[in-house]
Amino acid sequence: MPENAHRPLRDTAVTAVIDRLASARQSPPDDPRARLERDPHEYSEYGFSISPEQGDLIYVLCRGLRATRIVECATSVGMSTLYAAAAVRDNGGGTVIGSEIVPAKVATAERNLATAGLSAYVDIREGDARTTLRDLGGPVDFALIDGWLGTEPSLARQVIELVAPRLRVGGYVMNDNAEPDFLDYIRDPANGFLSVTLPLHGGTELCVKVTASPKSS
Ligand SMILES: C[S@@+](CC[C@H](N)C(=O)[O-])C[C@H]1O[C@@H](n2cnc3c(N)ncnc32)[C@H](O)[C@@H]1O
Repeated sequence: MPENAHRPLRDTAVTAVIDRLASARQSPPDDPRARLERDPHEYSEYGFSISPEQGDLIYVLCRGLRATRIVECATSVGMSTLYAAAAVRDNGGGTVIGSEIVPAKVATAERNLATAGLSAYVDIREGDARTTLRDLGGPVDFALIDGWLGTEPSLARQVIELVAPRLRVGGYVMNDNAEPDFLDYIRDPANGFLSVTLPLHGGTELCVKVTASPKSS
């Protein structure tokens, strides 16, 4: 049985980076979720990365969608980006538009993607996602909203309002933090989504766009 036969993503150049990041995973001494006004720059050493199960799901969904355009808030050190970029490459090409406010993390993510051989498939935009994701340049197949907890309106809510009009019907959104105002948006039938809470990483919301939203153009 070849190495990685049990994983949907089998490219060993990519999984070697994923496995290295997973084994270096560490948690900050304080619980950043306990302090809503925390500054992301104070946590530049911490990835807060998605779980391997979430990553496998991103890869499988994006392959099934034949995704070529993926958006991500946020990138951190690139764990989720590795799965998404491998999917667009394996679909024949495309771009993952990432976003990350901490410059040191952008540099680390770019190094990790280069080591995995995936640099050609990413555009990681440094800065506040609420600004850097305003111009997505075209329709989007998949969005990961894995941001930063804060007071409402949450980052997740502001980003879904930016991204939803650009998401194609049949496209998916995955959200990691279950921000209440994000869930309010996604569960409002007027916004055109169906969603389900999956038992991954303490609760992952998987949402599919079923009708064009009023703001679509
Ligand atoms: C949960 S982590 C993302 C993990 C990443 N998806 C992964 O799996 O590796 C959240 C990231 O959001 C970044 N962040 C916080 N506020 C942001 C903002 N306004 N714009 C862009 N990134 C932000 C933080 O620096 C942090 O790296």
